[in-house]
Amino acid sequence: MVPAFGSVVSDVSHGFPVGSPVEIVATGLAVEPAAARAATAFLSDAERQRASRLAFDRDRRRFVVARARLRQLLRFAASDLRFNVSHCDDLAVYAFSHGCEVGIDVEAVRVMGDADDLAARFFSRREHGAYRALHPRDKPLGFFQCWTRKEAFIKALGDGLSYPLNRFDVSLAPGEPARVLRVEGAPEDHRRWHMESFAPALGFVAAVVAERRSSAVDFLEPTDLLAVGEAR
Ligand SMILES: CC(C)(COP(=O)(O)OP(=O)(O)OC[C@H]1O[C@@H](n2cnc3c(N)ncnc32)[C@H](O)[C@@H]1OP(=O)(O)O)[C@@H](O)C(=O)NCCC(=O)NCCS
Repeated sequence: MVPAFGSVVSDVSHGFPVGSPVEIVATGLAVEPAAARAATAFLSDAERQRASRLAFDRDRRRFVVARARLRQLLRFAASDLRFNVSHCDDLAVYAFSHGCEVGIDVEAVRVMGDADDLAARFFSRREHGAYRALHPRDKPLGFFQCWTRKEAFIKALGDGLSYPLNRFDVSLAPGEPARVLRVEGAPEDHRRWHMESFAPALGFVAAVVAERRSSAVDFLEPTDLLAVGEAR
């Protein structure tokens, strides 16, 4: 598909097999002003109003391009299509699925002075322990792998933004598979969710979580994931 808005960074099913119910698209949002203006025509009135309330040109441009691209991707959507969106800087990632819940989150991997405090506040006890055990070199990636996995999980729950973050554990260590390790009060629930991490662009990490449907094909182990920080 030729993109009209944004540049396709990747357009593959990271970690999910071809023919699986989950597809992932990442789009760059840095476009010329003329392209951003053209993209506005594809938005609904409500979206245009939302864009006009954004104070900064850069934020407006990112919002408009991300929405126009989403509308383009949804043109031929089947009725059972579900999707979720995440943006960070000039990157948007979209996860689409047929008939199963899906959540996605992307972050730029960066060193943050308050990362240890945020980990203590938002990560579960088990995650915090795993984070503290990391070599300092691995902490920025470990932090954002945990963060994006937790966000993707609660976004897949849909109504779960108030879902307590300490009620479930995810894996986070670089090099270990992405997994939901525990869901409190539902011992089998961690098996209900398929989780993957991938690098949609240099310096970014994303996580996607999808509900396993009984009718879905078996999910394969990820073989084609980019190592975070690796050039494409
Ligand atoms: C609402 C929240 C999920 C948004 O995440 P974010 O990183 O600020 O922004 P993202 O770009 O990743 O996601 C925004 C998109 O999430 C989607 N979204 C919003 N509410 C949602 C919900 N209830 N369920 C699923 N997706 C939702 C929307 O598509 C939104 O896109 P839009 O702004 O274009 O409409 C997040 O800010 C939040 O409230 N998290 C609470 C949990 C928390 O504290 N997490 C810490 C992790 S350790």
